[in-house]
Amino acid sequence: MMSSKKEGRFSVPELLEFNWRMWSFVLLLLLAGAVLFLNPVNPYHGYVDPFYSPTVFVIPIVALFRVTCYAYRKDYYRHVFKHPLACRADIRGEKDNRAYSGERTLFALNNFHRYFLYAGILILPFFYWDFYKSLIWQTGYFDLRLGSLLLLFNAILLTLWTVSCHAFRHLTGGRTDCYSCKAAPQFRKKFYLGQSFLNKFHENLAFISLVVVIGVDIYIRALMAGMPLDFTFIKVLL
Ligand code: FES
Repeated sequence: MMSSKKEGRFSVPELLEFNWRMWSFVLLLLLAGAVLFLNPVNPYHGYVDPFYSPTVFVIPIVALFRVTCYAYRKDYYRHVFKHPLACRADIRGEKDNRAYSGERTLFALNNFHRYFLYAGILILPFFYWDFYKSLIWQTGYFDLRLGSLLLLFNAILLTLWTVSCHAFRHLTGGRTDCYSCKAAPQFRKKFYLGQSFLNKFHENLAFISLVVVIGVDIYIRALMAGMPLDFTFIKVLL
């Protein structure tokens, strides 16, 4: 008797598992969107929540930059959709009769990752500005607190994640055919090699920066709820 898999269909348990994972993923996204949009955080004691910097309206752009990132794409194709399972043609999904058709319909959005990167680069300076503002939030004082350091840590991680992006390599390495040639522009070569080094850690940076940005959001919400989680390291009159 032929199995349903050989006939090109999933068995019921497989279908349920696939749907269970897919719907959990969609539900998580909807919940995150609801928390962020329906319960915004205003600057609190000089702290601007990184999700709202510079404005709540950047959230969709940042979200698109995240979901089209190659690190997350690899993860949701392999572990959530389970298709394609790999780059190699023989194991990327054809064997279970789900012919790989490339990134079409909604997933055609992934092709615009480069443009979301450009938007992401424009947003980066605001995180450093928020850090700076948190230091001088009280007129006449310089105030270094735990929250300020968390804002800085988050800004640095987001920067590392952004500049280690695969599409960023196009910015640094594009239009130069040979970096080992004598005529290669040396400054760009150094920049390209540095970025290539960072690129090796891109996947880790993608996930660590996501955890940290969510952590900072929760931290600021916890402070607003009255939890005594902030500490002042230095406070001096200017
Ligand atoms: Fe991950 Fe571009 S590939 S941000």
